[in-house]
Amino acid sequence: MIKTLVKALSAKVGVEIVNLRGRYAQDGLVTVHSGHFREDAAFRAAYRRGVQASRGVDPGFEWRVHIALWAARTALRAAGDFVECGVNAGFMSSAIMEKLQWNTLGRRFYLIDTFSGPVLTQFSPEEVARQRLAIARQELGAGGYVTDIERVRANFAEWRSAAVVQGAVPEILASIEFGAVAFLHIDMNCALPERMALEFFWDRLSPGAAVLLDDYAYYGHECQREAMDAAARARGAEILSLPTGQGVIIR
Ligand SMILES: C[S@@+](CC[C@H](N)C(=O)[O-])C[C@H]1O[C@@H](n2cnc3c(N)ncnc32)[C@H](O)[C@@H]1O
Repeated sequence: MIKTLVKALSAKVGVEIVNLRGRYAQDGLVTVHSGHFREDAAFRAAYRRGVQASRGVDPGFEWRVHIALWAARTALRAAGDFVECGVNAGFMSSAIMEKLQWNTLGRRFYLIDTFSGPVLTQFSPEEVARQRLAIARQELGAGGYVTDIERVRANFAEWRSAAVVQGAVPEILASIEFGAVAFLHIDMNCALPERMALEFFWDRLSPGAAVLLDDYAYYGHECQREAMDAAARARGAEILSLPTGQGVIIR
């Protein structure tokens, strides 16, 4: 996969890239540009905290984490709490809380997940045809989704105002009294709950709030992208598509 990407990239830039040492080549992204942020001590500490949440598993997605840390840092200019829909072991949110020194902020971080994996009935026929349901089942069977909520609570115990909430989006959302929201991370790998989360939170997002969509430009996740584009467009917004596969909206 990487070799094919490197070959294609070499052809594109007109320079044969033979040595990937020092180049960023991870997580479906190969670039000749500098991944300088990887040397930053605060970035390294945040990334390490994410790996700790995942019990030592490093998914190798530093540029995605860099984007998430930037979005979360930018969101601090907006008033309100932070929300993640789709937490799993808590990699991304732990990295964010570490980077932002969460206990100094006085905001809440709502961490919402079924903690039993995706809701299999939420996949549309098109997603089923695109193998999203089969992949979700496979991941569930392989233990790819954390189902031990006590493990998740223990991970977040060091941070004040980290609210681990178990429940399915969208149903669980109505039972929580949200105030203004400054940061929303949506990462549920399924179009229906993702679109409904964006719609639910839209009017709660403060001016300048950041919305980060984890799977926006991922191949195979087209249903999510189409659903999010339609929801954003209906609200006069446009989603920035990133080469990491993520999408960003600044409210
Ligand atoms: C890709 S994982 C999230 C990864 C996480 N953001 C991280 O930083 O590692 C997707 C998560 O979404 C959750 N999920 C899927 N559908 C959901 C729904 N309708 N409501 C709540 N959680 C859901 C799954 O249980 C799973 O833990």
